Amino acid sequence: MKLSFLALLALITLWTISIPQSSSLTPDGEALLELKSGFNDTKGLLRSWKHKDHNPCGWLGVTCHFPDLRVRSMALHRNSLHGPIPPEIKNCTELRAIYLRANYLQGSIPPEIGELDYLTILDLSSNLLRGTIPPSIGQLVNLRFLNLSTNFFSGEIPNVGVLSSFRNTSFVGNLELCGLPIQKLCRGSLGFPAVLPHSENVASQGAKLVTFHGDLPYSSEEIIKKLEQLDEEDIVGSGGFGTVYKMVMDDSSAFAVKRIDRNREGSDQIFETELEILGSIKHINLVNLRGYCKLPSAKLLIYDYLALGSLDHYLHEHGQDDQPLNWNARMKIALGSARGLAYLHHDCSPVIIHRDIKSSNILLDISLEPHVSDFGLAKLLVGDDANVTTVVAGTFGYLAPEYLNDGRATEKSDVYSFGVLLLELVTGKRPTDPCFVRRGLNVVGWLNTLNGGDRLEEVIDEKCGNVGISKLLKRFLI
Ligand SMILES: Nc1ncnc2c1ncn2[C@@H]1O[C@H](COP(=O)(O)OP(=O)(O)OP(=O)(O)O)[C@@H](O)[C@H]1O
Ligand SMILES: [Mg+2]
Repeated sequence: MKLSFLALLALITLWTISIPQSSSLTPDGEALLELKSGFNDTKGLLRSWKHKDHNPCGWLGVTCHFPDLRVRSMALHRNSLHGPIPPEIKNCTELRAIYLRANYLQGSIPPEIGELDYLTILDLSSNLLRGTIPPSIGQLVNLRFLNLSTNFFSGEIPNVGVLSSFRNTSFVGNLELCGLPIQKLCRGSLGFPAVLPHSENVASQGAKLVTFHGDLPYSSEEIIKKLEQLDEEDIVGSGGFGTVYKMVMDDSSAFAVKRIDRNREGSDQIFETELEILGSIKHINLVNLRGYCKLPSAKLLIYDYLALGSLDHYLHEHGQDDQPLNWNARMKIALGSARGLAYLHHDCSPVIIHRDIKSSNILLDISLEPHVSDFGLAKLLVGDDANVTTVVAGTFGYLAPEYLNDGRATEKSDVYSFGVLLLELVTGKRPTDPCFVRRGLNVVGWLNTLNGGDRLEEVIDEKCGNVGISKLLKRFLI
């Protein structure tokens, strides 16, 4: 009896060794691995996606339905994924939700996505996707949520099936898209003038003009002619990257043209893509980038013209005739600038770190509303390949100590610079004012010495008008 039991045990052991383990990955898992090999997973975030697993249910971003272990949702937003969306996605036939928002996905949407019969949510917003929107998406009868916004899709939105039920919010921020849902008629449509949301012109002398969102309602010839006429008399200032001119059109509208002489190594394609992203960012407290012109010798960025110039100029160099900034005006400037910066940090995807917040980058319109300028420019022109830069961007006096130390620009280093800007507004002194720099202090150190001696009132710019010290301390300094 004992012998036969042992024989049985040996047999079972032999059987389990000789029979191949059913360890193969489910077809859904295989399809996801195809997807992974298409995505350029720069940060290795998909390392949990492995061939040796039986199913993909424990993989990052994957949710399955139990007990059949079919993949129901894929949530990979903000994962720095590059590359195309492979057509093999269609093999996850039970998918209900795809969230790929805020990556760097390129190429076009594979038409095979229209074979995912149960798909209810498709979010591909804030990527670098191009091409036309495949009509097959119209077949997804269960689709309830579609977000293709902030990409580079072009052409007419197919007015078929479920696609015709989505409105502007699903498509916003695709400069070359047209069609009924976004109320933008396509070129060649009958009965309506052709409104170009985004026009491009390659002029004869090698100048290429791109305007965003139809933001410059002039013909390319007219703009290029005006650009060519700019000369020294039109210069309104110059900075680290080039010279700024005022360009006045025939209808008296004015624009600021920034001539960038410095050229960052790298492809023009990336430069232009990033400019398009900056051109799509709109906020009342940000300077609007309306377009750019590429010449063989330089690049010209076309912005709104802000009539009162920079805060730096207004605060420190205003003439006898200018009204000094009173307390209320300074509050308005502080709050508006904060809103602009908060928008870059919290509402843009990917986040935009300014890197050079300072009073010359706060521009004032005729009603003293502040507009943050040059956002995204430091990264565009200086580069940020390893996410760490030497401190080539940024301006002395405004730089956070940790940014000076390790060259890493973050939202926090922007907030430090903004703090310095607030001190500048209250004290009326530049962060490099000789009265404290002579003593080896920066504006923060100077303030700390006065704070220790209870002499904070001394810092307030007398031009502020009559402002109670307690109010000021509460709002700005403590
Ligand atoms: N959109 C604009 N409208 C009106 N004036 C402008 C505009 N942009 C720039 N300026 C003027 O041109 C000056 C130079 O701007 P620019 O951005 O080139 O240099 P900066 O801000 O001093 O330094 P940085 O190059 O570090 O930004 C500004 O101080 C401002 O007076
Ligand atoms: Mg500037």
